[in-house]
Amino acid sequence: MRSFLSGALLALLASTKTSAYPATAISPGAVCTGTFSAISASDFVSNLHPGWNLGNTLDAIPDEGSWNNVPVVASTFDTVKSAGFKTWLQRVSDVVDMIVARGFYAIVNVHHDSWAWADVTQSGANLTMIEERFYRLWYQIGTKLACKSSLVAFESINEPPCNTEADAAEINKLNRIFLQAINDAGGFNPERVVTLVGGGEDSIKTSEWFVAPSGFPNPYAIQFHYYSPYDFIFSAWGKTIWGSDDDKSALQSDFQLLRDNFTDVPLILGEYDASPTNTEPAARWKYVDFLVKTAASFDISCVLWDNGLDHLDRTAGTWRDPNSISMITNSNESTTNSLPGSTEDGSATTQSSSAYIFHQYGTDVTEQSLPFVFNSNTLSSISDSTGSKLSLGTDYSVSGENIIFTAAYLSKHLSSTTAPGIVASLTLQFSGGDSSPVIQIVQWTPPTLSSTSVAASSVSGSDLSIPITWGGLPTVAAVKALTESGIYLFDDWTVYLGPIQQARATYSSHYNWDASHVIITSSAISSVISAGESSVFTFEFYPRDNGVVNGVNFTLTV
Ligand SMILES: *[C@@H]1O[C@H](CO)[C@@H](O)[C@H](O)[C@H]1NC(C)=O
Ligand SMILES: *[C@@H]1O[C@H](CO)[C@@H](O)[C@H](O)[C@H]1NC(C)=O
Ligand SMILES: *[C@@H]1O[C@H](CO)[C@@H](O)[C@H](O)[C@H]1NC(C)=O
Ligand SMILES: *[C@@H]1O[C@H](CO)[C@@H](O)[C@H](O)[C@H]1NC(C)=O
Repeated sequence: MRSFLSGALLALLASTKTSAYPATAISPGAVCTGTFSAISASDFVSNLHPGWNLGNTLDAIPDEGSWNNVPVVASTFDTVKSAGFKTWLQRVSDVVDMIVARGFYAIVNVHHDSWAWADVTQSGANLTMIEERFYRLWYQIGTKLACKSSLVAFESINEPPCNTEADAAEINKLNRIFLQAINDAGGFNPERVVTLVGGGEDSIKTSEWFVAPSGFPNPYAIQFHYYSPYDFIFSAWGKTIWGSDDDKSALQSDFQLLRDNFTDVPLILGEYDASPTNTEPAARWKYVDFLVKTAASFDISCVLWDNGLDHLDRTAGTWRDPNSISMITNSNESTTNSLPGSTEDGSATTQSSSAYIFHQYGTDVTEQSLPFVFNSNTLSSISDSTGSKLSLGTDYSVSGENIIFTAAYLSKHLSSTTAPGIVASLTLQFSGGDSSPVIQIVQWTPPTLSSTSVAASSVSGSDLSIPITWGGLPTVAAVKALTESGIYLFDDWTVYLGPIQQARATYSSHYNWDASHVIITSSAISSVISAGESSVFTFEFYPRDNGVVNGVNFTLTV
């Protein structure tokens, strides 16, 4: 559900009316012809890795196609299969058929219902109504899909909100109602693998409060989701770096708690996503490498969330970040991936990244040394986008764990007056591992905005799009927001963070960008009006230098 859209429900339901829960004598339920090749939950889970979510599609409201994706076409699954994935989450009979026809595993869930009518945390929630409706929903889905093969599993409910132990107990009950409903629906359902969920599909709440229902025949796995750390995944508070020992041990410990609580239950990480739309590549590759390998070490199978804007360009049939996909689809616990070095220390005042060779407009071209984490491999080759290989010695050299590009080579692409932008892409191959990072040569200069201020009151009520002339990468790294008296416009506790995180806003909630604009959201404009003081938004870009040079200010006046 890594979506910034608020949501409702899976467009599925057959019109059949069934009796209210608890069911009495609906049996025998569906009767199937053919046979069902029963599979254990642990085989199902280990076979489905690596998996892929068809996100923001069948869960879109009001209809498939209403959000950022066109309706599902079969060729999308061919692209996903050729990348090496083996599963999907979601939807209904015809898409399930498209999926299993290609030999994939499929997991069908009810998705945004958890926000719409099935939220057990709402004060005054009518739990009886939720339970009855949930039973009827799963009875209908169970009937419709009763005769699908053992490649198809069901998941009770996506990310049910949960704040307390009592909420968690109700979610445990919903898991039981789900199992009752699909078993009553008959067919092959009693033998079907199911994935059960704990509160929010959160690893901690699940490890604390999940209890599996007893008395049902289905093989089951536990599914959880992981979008942590929140600030890195969602670009909050200027957290554009990842990879410190603390970052790693937090992820390790979250997975460990869950595994240690459920030592003999198959575990599926059913959603995770460090998106190329908003995370810095060197940080993202470190995260993907560590997450995939840590999951493998705990025998956890992974299913990538992809909302259509993240990984697969479903129209072009191409992956936006092939290096992440390569590690996700190939790496295991013992793989040694070579990765670009980058800033990991939260107290840093600038951010470096060897995913780029940055050169500033107006300065001389000199040799550049990129630190890498070789991880016991050697560099085999560097090739440009035409496929020609760079010459070791003339174009680059390797010294320790640094790749040094000569001034002569860089001068083939750059001069002090080259127009800002991405001027070349280089693919690095190593002797081992699954990582072949594509690094970019970027000419940069601070971007310019078409205007530098506006009265907040004149633009309140909607998002403000400000035309920008980009000065390098067409991406915003972070935004600092201060009132004219120096008060943090958002989250004053960020004063305790490092210099490139203090007073920083949150992507999507407060700011955004498109191909030719930076955007201040209506909610951020409201914050300025409430603060009652003119406020400066400093947009920062890569390479991040704390807004000193590579930033641009926009003032909302009050
Ligand atoms: C709760 O839902 C049940 C079942 O739909 C209904 O009979 C009952 O009247 C509802 N209770 C309230 C307080 O609305
Ligand atoms: C189970 O999970 C809880 C909550 O996360 C944790 O406190 C506890 O230590 C875990 N148990 C084991 C055996 O790891
Ligand atoms: C990891 O993958 C390599 C191939 O890339 C394979 O040789 C090795 O056996 C795998 N190790 C484990 C623990 O699965
Ligand atoms: C933006 O404004 C702040 C103070 O409001 C100033 O310190 C900073 O130098 C400005 N940055 C740029 C890039 O103009």
